[in-house]
Amino acid sequence: MDKIRKCLFPAAGYGTRFLPVTKSMPKEMLPLVNKPLIQYGVEEAMAAGLSGMAIVTGRGKRALEDHFDISYELEHQIAGTDKEWALKDIRHIINSCTFSYTRQIEMKGLGHAILTGESLIGEEPFAVILADDYCVTDDSGVLAQMVKLYEQYRCSIVAIEEIPREETYKYGVIAGDLEAEGLYRVREMVEKPAPEVAPSNLAIIGRYILTPDIFDILRNTPPGRNGEIQITDALMTQAKMGRVLAYRFKGRRFDCGSIEGFMEASNYNYTHLYRKHKA
Ligand code: G1P
Repeated sequence: MDKIRKCLFPAAGYGTRFLPVTKSMPKEMLPLVNKPLIQYGVEEAMAAGLSGMAIVTGRGKRALEDHFDISYELEHQIAGTDKEWALKDIRHIINSCTFSYTRQIEMKGLGHAILTGESLIGEEPFAVILADDYCVTDDSGVLAQMVKLYEQYRCSIVAIEEIPREETYKYGVIAGDLEAEGLYRVREMVEKPAPEVAPSNLAIIGRYILTPDIFDILRNTPPGRNGEIQITDALMTQAKMGRVLAYRFKGRRFDCGSIEGFMEASNYNYTHLYRKHKA
């Protein structure tokens, strides 16, 4: 089986940068205007032709499951009123996708979160979306662009963008050889390097396509940066075999894991999506 059908959403993190709002609410439920971050991610996955949404959650994340489910009382209350349209999109999502969940018991890094999702994914290539990297594009979504590339190259792919060099310590950073326009065959990748030792200023952003051998590799990947199991380190094992591409996606990313990026994205969506849609 090598068509990509499933998308994994690591969503167990605490969201400490948004405290106190994340004390009892999952950070993935923070809204850009009136839609939670995770829903944008799910919509991006659907636009790429995926329908199996696999969510790695943790304690205190029940709101995520409730969001992607029917709310009978609410449906009943607004049936036949002019408010029904407000649930149209989410209803469409619920009707066209399947949602599965598993809990990450301990927070041991993004690599560990992805490995926790193995039981939901199985032996097939899959996508990963980190919902706090919110991406807007002119036409096809970032994941759709990557799925198209996967169909051609059949190996793991990470999305990248150029960042100011002084910010390399926040990201996985790659170096590679140009394979096609905007596409690199990865030679090196390092998790959160200091600017002085970073191999480039090309940073990984939260979109991945992974081949299923990544699970065995993750099982054998020792803790790296911050004592956590890093997907970047596991991918380096594949990169040594020439099996990782880095794709400079077309579009714009907002870092909704930070208050500044989140506010920018909120303003952007209010102006470009919400107000336009309302007009
Ligand atoms: C994770 C990854 C990092 C990547 C980043 C993208 O880091 O470990 O390689 O560049 O996501 O957002 P985090 O932001 O979870 O610390």
